[in-house]
Amino acid sequence: MKVPPLLLFIFFFLSTATGSNTTLDPKQLRALQSLDIPTSKDPCTHTNTSTSSLLCDSSSPFRHLLSLSLSNCSSDLSLSFTALKSLASLQSLHFLSCPLLPPPRFPSDLSLSLLSFSAVRSFRHLSGVFLSRFVNLTDLTVSYVPVNTSGLFVILGNMHKLTSLTISHASLSGFIPKHLHLNLTHIDLSDNKLRGRIPTSLTVLDDLQFLNLSHNALSGEIPSQFGDLISLTNLSLASNSFSGSVPDSISAIPGLVHVDLSGNQFNGTVPKFFTEVRSLKHLNLENNEFHGVLPFNASFIRRLAVFKVGGNGNLCYNHSVLSSKLKLGIAPCDKHGFPLSPPPAKESGDDSESDASDYDDSEDDSSSRKEEHHHGPNKVVLGVAIGLSSIVFLIVFLVLLSKWCG
Ligand SMILES: *[C@@H]1O[C@H](CO)[C@@H](O)[C@H](O)[C@H]1NC(C)=O
Ligand SMILES: *[C@@H]1O[C@H](CO)[C@@H](O)[C@H](O)[C@H]1NC(C)=O
Ligand SMILES: *[C@@H]1O[C@H](CO)[C@@H](O)[C@H](O)[C@H]1NC(C)=O
Ligand SMILES: *[C@@H]1O[C@H](CO)[C@@H](O)[C@H](O)[C@H]1NC(C)=O
Ligand SMILES: *[C@@H]1O[C@H](CO)[C@@H](O)[C@H](O)[C@H]1NC(C)=O
Ligand SMILES: *[C@@H]1O[C@H](CO)[C@@H](O)[C@H](O)[C@H]1NC(C)=O
Ligand SMILES: *[C@@H]1O[C@H](CO)[C@@H](O)[C@H](O)[C@H]1NC(C)=O
Ligand SMILES: *[C@@H]1O[C@H](CO)[C@@H](O)[C@H](O)[C@H]1NC(C)=O
Ligand SMILES: *[C@@H]1O[C@H](CO)[C@@H](O)[C@H](O)[C@H]1NC(C)=O
Repeated sequence: MKVPPLLLFIFFFLSTATGSNTTLDPKQLRALQSLDIPTSKDPCTHTNTSTSSLLCDSSSPFRHLLSLSLSNCSSDLSLSFTALKSLASLQSLHFLSCPLLPPPRFPSDLSLSLLSFSAVRSFRHLSGVFLSRFVNLTDLTVSYVPVNTSGLFVILGNMHKLTSLTISHASLSGFIPKHLHLNLTHIDLSDNKLRGRIPTSLTVLDDLQFLNLSHNALSGEIPSQFGDLISLTNLSLASNSFSGSVPDSISAIPGLVHVDLSGNQFNGTVPKFFTEVRSLKHLNLENNEFHGVLPFNASFIRRLAVFKVGGNGNLCYNHSVLSSKLKLGIAPCDKHGFPLSPPPAKESGDDSESDASDYDDSEDDSSSRKEEHHHGPNKVVLGVAIGLSSIVFLIVFLVLLSKWCG
């Protein structure tokens, strides 16, 4: 008997759409059991537990795992080669807070099938060679896991499809490779031990939206072609040893939202072009070596959610343009554009002492002002309380005295 194709299609559609006629591949079921994932119910339909979440395809007769995330694993959990071998259908594999031993061997089928891999606060450490085998990855995230390698190029050398790269808080050493994959949109290499300069070749990454190189030992100047990164929205170069001036080409980046250059040795004047970047919300220039008159007015500064510029000893603000109430953490300028007396250090009695609050580093001046308001009433209340209690004491004393005498 011949089954009409339409009927076959409907059957196929029903069985895949409901998933009721297919269950997970028994080998994969055993692998999940070895990972302490409860399998009493069909894991493809009960996909979330407190420590795992997964996604299955809809193939028949058996479904296969596409994605597996493990979190908060027990410390005695281990990854066996057999279990991993049966999981070669996975496209994403994520570990969050899983203090596993680094897998001695990763089956190559699985290494090649993965498109997304992340390890956050998991494994004791990972090697660059281990990570480099995931050649088909589009997303790689390693964070709070020490990565032992002679350089990032070892890891990225064969990953030709990578679009999102995060290796942060990982003690990663070496240099930023000269050749990065052109389709990268996200690079977070923050809090590592990277050295050297930003390679000029990095500026050819047209699609790069996010670049965080903060908390490394990078140095040198920002390449003058930096403005070629036309898709950039979030940039942090904070806490490195960068120097020189901020290149004008940055003004050509239309969508900048977040710029953090704090904690470097950038010098020269603060570029006025930041006022023309309409999308800007967060600008942190503090703890650098900028000098001269701050070229911003109050309406620009108020437009920003975050603006920090303190810790630039030779930078000052024009007090006929900006009020000291903004508490910028820099001195007002004299008429030549140099900072008036630096923040009062030890001498007292000087008139400028009353301006001391202009120089403090308080991040939230409204809260510190509120606090001042609290001090006032508190002192008044205390004074009234002392006054009242002494009057009461006096009355009691007088009453007692009169009784005693009378
Ligand atoms: C993992 O454990 C931490 C602390 O015990 C908890 O805050 C967090 O919500 C847990 N995460 C998951 C996904 O269960
Ligand atoms: C992954 O890459 C390898 C070699 O580069 C290739 O042969 C294989 O087809 C790719 N696998 C997938 C699932 O894309
Ligand atoms: C990995 O770490 C060990 C010791 O911590 C070191 O001897 C070795 O050279 C490192 N390997 C690489 C490739 O950096
Ligand atoms: C980069 O992405 C574009 C489309 O976004 C795609 O056509 C191109 O093949 C990708 N390049 C590589 C080398 O993967
Ligand atoms: C960059 O990374 C640091 C450290 O990981 C983090 O504190 C900061 O918020 C990040 N900056 C941006 C712009 O994402
Ligand atoms: C700014 O820094 C660069 C690089 O360190 C240096 O060559 C230059 O002399 C500095 N300029 C000023 C005005 O300090
Ligand atoms: C980019 O910066 C903005 C403003 O600070 C922030 O709200 C947003 O979350 C950041 N984007 C990413 C991907 O970190
Ligand atoms: C503040 O500066 C911006 C940019 O330089 C300018 O467009 C705007 O008119 C100024 N606003 C005031 C109130 O001066
Ligand atoms: C401060 O601003 C006023 C008014 O815009 C201007 O006349 C003066 O030259 C400025 N002073 C400095 C030091 O730039």
